[in-house]
Amino acid sequence: MSQQPPSSRFPQFPESYWIASEEIPAQPKLMEDIEADVTIVGAGLTGLTTAYLLAERGVRVVVLEAGRMVHGTTGHTTAKVTAQHSLFYDELISHFGEDKARLYYQANQEAVDFVKKLVNDHSIGCQLSEEDAYVYTQSDSYVEKLQKEAEAYRKLGIPGGYAERISLPYETKGAVGMKNQAQFNPVPFLKHLAGHIIRMGGRIYENTTVNGVSKEEMPKVKTSDGHQVTCRHVVVASHFPFNDRNGFYFSRLHAERSYVIAGKTKVPFPGGMYISAETPTRSLRSVRIDGEPMVIFGGEGHKTGQGICTFQYYEALEQFAREEFGLEEIAYRWSAQDLYTLDKVPYIGQMLKDQPNIYMATGYKKWGMSTSVAAAILNTRLITGEGSPYAELFSPQRFHADPDVKTFVAQNTNVAANLLAGKLDLNYRKPEELGSDEGGVVKIKGKRTGAYRDKQGQLHLVDTTCKHMGCEVNWNAAERTWDCPCHGSRYDHTGQVIEGPAKQALDPVKGE
Ligand SMILES: Cc1cc2nc3c(=O)[nH]c(=O)nc-3n(C[C@H](O)[C@H](O)[C@H](O)COP(=O)(O)OP(=O)(O)OC[C@H]3O[C@@H](n4cnc5c(N)ncnc54)[C@H](O)[C@@H]3O)c2cc1C
Ligand code: FES
Repeated sequence: MSQQPPSSRFPQFPESYWIASEEIPAQPKLMEDIEADVTIVGAGLTGLTTAYLLAERGVRVVVLEAGRMVHGTTGHTTAKVTAQHSLFYDELISHFGEDKARLYYQANQEAVDFVKKLVNDHSIGCQLSEEDAYVYTQSDSYVEKLQKEAEAYRKLGIPGGYAERISLPYETKGAVGMKNQAQFNPVPFLKHLAGHIIRMGGRIYENTTVNGVSKEEMPKVKTSDGHQVTCRHVVVASHFPFNDRNGFYFSRLHAERSYVIAGKTKVPFPGGMYISAETPTRSLRSVRIDGEPMVIFGGEGHKTGQGICTFQYYEALEQFAREEFGLEEIAYRWSAQDLYTLDKVPYIGQMLKDQPNIYMATGYKKWGMSTSVAAAILNTRLITGEGSPYAELFSPQRFHADPDVKTFVAQNTNVAANLLAGKLDLNYRKPEELGSDEGGVVKIKGKRTGAYRDKQGQLHLVDTTCKHMGCEVNWNAAERTWDCPCHGSRYDHTGQVIEGPAKQALDPVKGE
């Protein structure tokens, strides 16, 4: 496994099929001070669905998006829309009890049904198909876990259950299935919603980064260009909350990346959606690309900034796809990250104790196609005063000794270890050792420095100290980015922020 760019078997640059499949009309940048009832920060599935639901109720909404809408994690998903979140319901019952586990299922199943209904009512062409979802195992040691999960389905009244055999073309030892879930392409779906938001009087601004919210009854949402939106309520739908005061959420969230390849296979896909119970994760679904049936293979998750050579994750997926499905060629490859909370239940609702009109939604642990929508429904109902049976379960301010304390300690020990490890890392290369299109950590004037030599031979040097809290970023060769192992901030090869919590670019370094 090399640190070199991927072989010719892979597209040279990562590109999500969803984003490539559909052009979304560009929206203006915010260039003045304006007013709204609700300001929503972030235009992924969470932000746009929230804006749609509020606009439908006559609420004046403004959406502020740092880049292009739907180009965040939502544009890089595998887009299974399901309340089956891997193996989770047995664990939920043991930590939260049956009633709360049932509420979790209901909130997510309502979201799945909402997506299906909207697509049907509005005739949205987004390749939505109804599919059964399966968690399967190839290992005897997981069979009991699957049976316990099926028992949890029975207790909670979830349609589906244990299956001895499923239709995958390779040997499996057992599976647990959930009936009538769905898969789609989120980009045309959200393009449709964005059009409706605008027709209903909502405003969407792109290339507008928010960097603060004032603490007052009518908060002012401030942009990095010096403009502001004065409003009654704010919804933080920015994935990692951009406005985390005192690091409350930094110590309660961590980011994990995953990899996706899409391609034509010799072995036909049997229908359904699949994910392995054991690691390395294998997540499978079908897709049509330019009219041709293809398969999406996902998995190989790891904490952001803590991967080894990131090409190896694509290569592992490719090997699996070739062996089990006769993968012929890779049409697309992409990767992205999602956030995990301490107890694996997302944080949705009022974000800050002392500012009740600020709402958040994040921590979907790679199951945000249903949970973003559940979050949009919940936050809409909280804002309009309709109330929701799910408010307490998802409250971001909850605390459960078990499993929160254990995960909190593990998570923050991991951050501390990475903070230290980066500073002590002595395994530096010399800038001249870097080939074309290659990056890595080098030593310049005795200091740890990030270097990337582009295809024209120009060397781009950055200070590798993350602008968030000072951990040392690592080179992600497959995406050509600098990724932080502590809280998941990412920077491009010139040091510009791609995703937060960091808000400032890495310092440039003068070299060669
Ligand atoms: C590889 C992978 C596969 C996945 N597959 C599935 C799946 O099959 N099924 C499933 O249910 N879930 C899946 N998920 C999870 C799901 O895709 C995400 O949970 C979901 O897309 C998150 O949506 P979001 O709107 O909250 O975040 P995003 O889509 O990331 O949107 C947040 C937006 O906020 C913007 N923003 C950030 N900071 C600011 C700021 N300061 N100012 C203004 N804007 C800002 C960003 O630019 C971004 O556009 C997957 C995740 C990954 C990583
Ligand atoms: S993201 Fe927190 S230190 Fe880098």
